[in-house]
Amino acid sequence: MKIVLLGCGVVGQGVLDIMDEHPEYGKVAKVLVRNTAAHPDSRVTADPEEVFAEEDIELVVECMGGLEPAHTYVRRALEAGYDVVTSNKKMLAAYYAELQDLAEKNGCDLRYEACVGGGIPWIHELIRLQRIDEVTSFSGIINGTTNYILSQMTEQGSPFADALKQAQEAGYAEADPTDDIDGYDARYKVALSAAAGFGILPDTEKIPCWGIRHVSAGDIAYARENNHTLKLIGSGRLYDDHAELCVMPRMLKNTNLLASVSVNLNGLTAQSTTLGPSSYIGQGAGRYPTAHAVVQDIISIGEGERTAGHCYEMPLNNDLTEEVYYIRTSAAEAFRSAAEVIDGDVIITKKIRYSELLPLLESCGDPELFIASVEE
Ligand SMILES: NC(=O)c1ccc[n+]([C@@H]2O[C@H](COP(=O)([O-])OP(=O)(O)OC[C@H]3O[C@@H](n4cnc5c(N)ncnc54)[C@H](OP(=O)(O)O)[C@@H]3O)[C@@H](O)[C@H]2O)c1
Repeated sequence: MKIVLLGCGVVGQGVLDIMDEHPEYGKVAKVLVRNTAAHPDSRVTADPEEVFAEEDIELVVECMGGLEPAHTYVRRALEAGYDVVTSNKKMLAAYYAELQDLAEKNGCDLRYEACVGGGIPWIHELIRLQRIDEVTSFSGIINGTTNYILSQMTEQGSPFADALKQAQEAGYAEADPTDDIDGYDARYKVALSAAAGFGILPDTEKIPCWGIRHVSAGDIAYARENNHTLKLIGSGRLYDDHAELCVMPRMLKNTNLLASVSVNLNGLTAQSTTLGPSSYIGQGAGRYPTAHAVVQDIISIGEGERTAGHCYEMPLNNDLTEEVYYIRTSAAEAFRSAAEVIDGDVIITKKIRYSELLPLLESCGDPELFIASVEE
């Protein structure tokens, strides 16, 4: 199988290394980068026309990241009838419908195992479950950077700023950590998990999304004192006529399997009709775990396995199931109507729907508010 690779950074270089070691699965003929001087390999070019002019391409692997030009190149590949494997969750969450339709129209496969859970075969498993079952819900730790930060704060007592710096030094967090700590990266992954697991097409921007930018040592201590552990959780639940999707910090009971998923690991649980809960833990990012997932997709395509990526529209209902929420804010009085307990700047709410809380969150005027749901 003749392959061209778009992007040769952390993930792309890993893909190139594995494919070069396993030529039985295909040969990478051209590699697109921005700066060729940094890549001493005769296959490397900075000219996309040279890549797409390559004869007999069968598969395009996109590991560039960002929306453009990645989206345009993936479109172009599908329009030309090439199968595509991508690790780019941000781009795919934004253009999923358009690209899957294009893939279907042109008889191509568009695969994205590496987009969620890095090396964990999560997307594959969600699709496989549906051979027998309906996937009814999923939840998990799907961002390794925030899990690393929360683990450092919980286990080492590190302040947030130090834990973030350590995550950056260890290569887990970008110089601009916004996508991770504000929950957007997890939100792309929730959208793609809903596409693979529920067969629905959510508007990613409408998924409620709360991150850990304002988490404090006091929040971690509150969780600990109450036998809970704080994690950033992406979740989805499918009902007959709507779906609930959400990204939110969650104080998990210490007995919850996900509470023990530490450092930069990811942990995901799916609930399906006859299997019940099934959980998966592993490396959610990094060169070789992520490249492994990309290459598994390449092998599946080479073996002729096809995925049905088509999704149907399903309204999102952001009412969300009733929960107890922990809120820390300088505007505690604004939450009196929803509060079970107010203790200084901390509110523990009654069991309420998110839709009841949302107007209070929006009107309280505290940009540094921290919210987490509390597992009962
Ligand atoms: N890193 C991870 O652990 C991980 C895990 C899961 C998913 N992902 C996703 O995988 C994708 C790639 O991530 P990464 O960490 O490998 O990124 P990266 O290290 O920044 O590598 C990006 C590569 O794409 C090339 N590139 C970027 N823009 C380009 C353009 N306009 N024209 C030509 N080449 C271009 C870069 O070229 P130069 O080398 O010349 O700069 C580089 O080789 C992202 O979507 C990311 O979200 C990453």
